[in-house]
Amino acid sequence: MNKIIAVTSGKGGTGKSTFSVGLALALKKAEKSVLMIDMDSGLRCLDLLLGVDEQVIFDISDALAGKPLDACVLHSPKYSGVDLIPAAINEFCPSAEDFGNFVEKVSRLYDVVIIDCPSGSDFTLYSMLPRATEFVCVCNPNPVSVRDTATVGSRLRAIGRNGRIIINKYDYYCIGNSVFKTLDDLIDISGLKLLGIIPLSLKLEIAFYGGYFPIKGKEFKAYKRIATRLMGESVPIPKLSKI
Ligand SMILES: Nc1ncnc2c1ncn2[C@@H]1O[C@H](COP(=O)(O)OP(=O)(O)O)[C@@H](O)[C@H]1O
Ligand SMILES: [Mg+2]
Repeated sequence: MNKIIAVTSGKGGTGKSTFSVGLALALKKAEKSVLMIDMDSGLRCLDLLLGVDEQVIFDISDALAGKPLDACVLHSPKYSGVDLIPAAINEFCPSAEDFGNFVEKVSRLYDVVIIDCPSGSDFTLYSMLPRATEFVCVCNPNPVSVRDTATVGSRLRAIGRNGRIIINKYDYYCIGNSVFKTLDDLIDISGLKLLGIIPLSLKLEIAFYGGYFPIKGKEFKAYKRIATRLMGESVPIPKLSKI
């Protein structure tokens, strides 16, 4: 079965949408076809990041209501090969069965489907995702985000799933001066298995301001390592001072 990756977090603003785009580009670089689904209804953002905001006519709610997929899927002119079904403009909460069936159907057309989920404490969406889903929790290396990640992890375990943690906005010197003596302490408190570490980066901020995603440099190397791990290969975590 093709991969269906749900990108989640407890706290907002940890970098889920940025991560989703970076992961999509890294997977594309590895010659995987990628569909992104923006499930953060009301707070849409992937259409802007992928440069398709002017083209949005239909969204995920229309796709589930039976509109042809061709009409709902947008092709990013900015990042060719990355497709998107935009988020619903209004609050949208499909039934678990409808959403699960839909995601499974589209996952047959792509190597990887990435679902950018809303943050927060409404975990209804998790139980809508089909069995094969991988849950990736994007966490920042601060005590609030780590505590929220631990909550997400325990909710996932309660429905029989295991999430993996991405430490985003990592800075070697920040960790040294934080409540976490080491990165291992942080990972232990989160209760999740480490999937990868992405550096704190101004370039990623700029991509968010409408610029281009950096597809060179240490940021993209981090995304490529994560993409490779998600495809089942093992890649070592580099020396922490080098991330
Ligand atoms: N690794 C990073 N380094 C620096 N800024 C980042 C990084 N990842 C994300 N950001 C910034 O964090 C902010 C929130 O990111 P976003 O992807 O919208 O988070 P979320 O989807 O979790 O709400 C944006 O301004 C984005 O540019
Ligand atoms: Mg987001």
